[in-house]
Amino acid sequence: MKRRSWAEPYKIKMVEPIRMTSREERERAIAEAGYNTFLLRSQDVYIDLLTDSGTSAMSDRQWAGMMRGDEAYAGSRNYYSLEAAVHEHYGYKHLIPTHQGRGAEHLLSQLCINPGDSVPGNMYFTTTRHHQEAAGGSFVDVIVNEAHDPASEHPFKGNVDLDKMRSLIERVGAERIPYLSLETNVNMAGGQPCSMENIRAVCALCHEHGIPVYLDATRAVENAWFIKQREAGFADRTIKSILLEICSHTDGCTMSAKKDSLVNIGGFLAVNDDALAERARNLVVVYEGLHTYGGLAGRDMEAMAIGIAESVQEDHIRARIGQVEYLGLRLMDAGVPIVRPIGGHGIFIDAARFLPHIPRERFPAQALAAALYVDSGVRSMERGGVSAGRDPETGENIFPSLELIRLTLPRRVYTQAHMDVVAESVLDLHEHPEQVQGLEMVHEPEHLRFFQARFVPMVPASASCGGIAAQSVRP
Ligand code: F0G
Repeated sequence: MKRRSWAEPYKIKMVEPIRMTSREERERAIAEAGYNTFLLRSQDVYIDLLTDSGTSAMSDRQWAGMMRGDEAYAGSRNYYSLEAAVHEHYGYKHLIPTHQGRGAEHLLSQLCINPGDSVPGNMYFTTTRHHQEAAGGSFVDVIVNEAHDPASEHPFKGNVDLDKMRSLIERVGAERIPYLSLETNVNMAGGQPCSMENIRAVCALCHEHGIPVYLDATRAVENAWFIKQREAGFADRTIKSILLEICSHTDGCTMSAKKDSLVNIGGFLAVNDDALAERARNLVVVYEGLHTYGGLAGRDMEAMAIGIAESVQEDHIRARIGQVEYLGLRLMDAGVPIVRPIGGHGIFIDAARFLPHIPRERFPAQALAAALYVDSGVRSMERGGVSAGRDPETGENIFPSLELIRLTLPRRVYTQAHMDVVAESVLDLHEHPEQVQGLEMVHEPEHLRFFQARFVPMVPASASCGGIAAQSVRP
């Protein structure tokens, strides 16, 4: 049969010009940014794949919703639209809006975690773990082993390993586990989904022991897409019904609406428990704002309500994940080591394999992100040793098994031609990896260091006068 292409289910009504810079300009910019792509000015970036967070293009409907903002301090009608949207699509009883996902994580952690508690999760996320530790808990990774192997083709690498969860319960006792934080389409594993079978089983196990399960629903719609594609019995189900079923097994969620829900700012905590909701409403006024706006403008809540409904449309999610797949296949076909299977929100390049000559202490992923920017103005993000930070007890660097850079695709923003430019730049670097040198960290912030750490490049032995293999060029 003749191949028939498909295209994005929208056309472009407004454009934002972007600027290509010279290689010299980019070399200067990355040096000024301390070789950290978070510290670049966006005006110096050509194609910005730093994150899919808050970077989506809103629809004309969402922009129209912005004009219907009801900026009353209390009881804004946009709060009630959002409440209805969350109820219809996520199904939870109580909604507490927050300015973004970490606001919700902060509330949940403060409300539920006591010092000394263990908080299991299917791989850490930076802000989530930070809030758990700040509340006195320690994070325990209960994800399946395959998640730590970039080459494993396991279709549901986000799954919780039930044996790991069982042995944690045996070891510390259910009363020291305030909840399981269950992330859908696990970000740090490469945008890898959980199966419905696993979600059902792990929720049943936790509930048997009286342990609630809170979903990190940030990319639950993308997870629903993979369940529909890969899990028996779901091919004919709507994304909307799969999402509702995922949530129905759990007790609530924290949500960064800046991803799935197609808005530039916003998040929420949603729970079924009446008493917990009451406590959350008492706390949200301290940190975020009144319980009917949680740090958001009325217009932001309206855009979010509309974005939630758009996010579950089948043609939207197919195009969104289809674009990620297009870029992934181009890289995979050329032999670039990427996390397999291709995930939902971006392509994760295995920097340890891409740059085998750079030891982990010299941050190969950070170095690759900087080199990619210099080559083509494409901005990516480190997701390896720098992001993992230090062990809170020993103070030692954590070197996680995954040393990745993430090319994260904003939703509805870039075209297939942009994807080609990105792929060609990665392929050029892949042909000449020896050009990329490791980095030395020269400034290390105390919290979430990857955002603001600064580095200097190491120069190869031949270019240095010392007898050591490489030395840094400190400013
Ligand atoms: N949970 C997950 C899985 C996330 O990916 C993020 C944010 C958050 C929680 C926190 O939400 O940013 O709204 O406060 N991830 C962004 C990223 C920053 O680039 O992956 P937030």
